[in-house]
Amino acid sequence: MTSRTPLIAGNWKLHNTIAQSVTLATALRAELDGTSGVEIAVAPVATALHPVASALEGSPIALAAQNTHWESRGAFTGELGPALLADVGCRYVIVGHSERRQLFGETEEGVRKKVRAVQAAGLVPIVCVGETLAQREEDATLGIVLGQVDAALAGNDASRLVIAYEPVWAIGTGKTASPADAQAVHAAIRGRLSAVIGELAQRLQILYGGSVKAENARDLLSQPDIDGALVGGASLEAKSFTSIVRAAL
Ligand code: PGA
Repeated sequence: MTSRTPLIAGNWKLHNTIAQSVTLATALRAELDGTSGVEIAVAPVATALHPVASALEGSPIALAAQNTHWESRGAFTGELGPALLADVGCRYVIVGHSERRQLFGETEEGVRKKVRAVQAAGLVPIVCVGETLAQREEDATLGIVLGQVDAALAGNDASRLVIAYEPVWAIGTGKTASPADAQAVHAAIRGRLSAVIGELAQRLQILYGGSVKAENARDLLSQPDIDGALVGGASLEAKSFTSIVRAAL
C-alpha cells in the first residue's frame, strides 16, 4: 500500500485583518515549527497573503489562496490570477469551494479552467466537491460528487491536485459525515481517479471537509482514504487547528 502524507489545510474564509492574520500565522508557526509527517497550509484573505507569507517563511506551513481567476493578466477588474498567487508565495489554490459555487455562481466549466490555470502556474489546486442535503437524501451523492470530479478534471492533469470532499450540509453546521460515510465517498473518488491515471491515484491526497474539529479529526483521519482535512471554523484558532494537525500524525 502506498502511504500518503496527510495534508491539513485551514480555510480562513472572510475573517481576520492583516494584523489578526499575522498573529494567527505566528502562533501556528510557534506551535508547528519542526513538525514533520504532515503537510500544513493556511488560506488567509487575499489582502493578508503577502504579510502571512513573510510570517511563515522558512516554516513547514504553506500558503494557499481561497480562489483565483483562470486568466493570469488582462482586463479583468477585481480579479487575481494564478501567476500573482505564485508570485506572493502560494503553493495551493482552493478551487470550486461550495460557497463559490452556491453564492458566486461558479460553474463546473469555470472550475475546470481554474484547475488548468493553477496547474499551469506551477501551483496545486485543492478542488472541492460535495453534495447538498437534498442530493444526499435522494441517494444522489456519488453521482453528484463523481460528476464534479469528472468536470473539474476533464482535459486537465489529474495527477497534480488535491481533492477535498466537503458535503455542503456539513460545512459550518457542526454536522459531519460519519467516518464510514465519508470513507465510502473518498474510496469512490479514488476509484474514479484510478480509472483516469491508474496507480498514480494512490498517491493523491483526498481531504475531508465540513465541521472538522479537534474532537472528530482523529476518527475521520483514521479512515484509509481520508488523507487530511480542509478546515474552516476550527482553523481560526491556533489551538484547535494545531490539535487537528497533531491528530493527523
Ligand atoms: P467548516 O468549513 O470547517 O467551518 O465546516 C469547511 C470549509 O468550508 O472548507
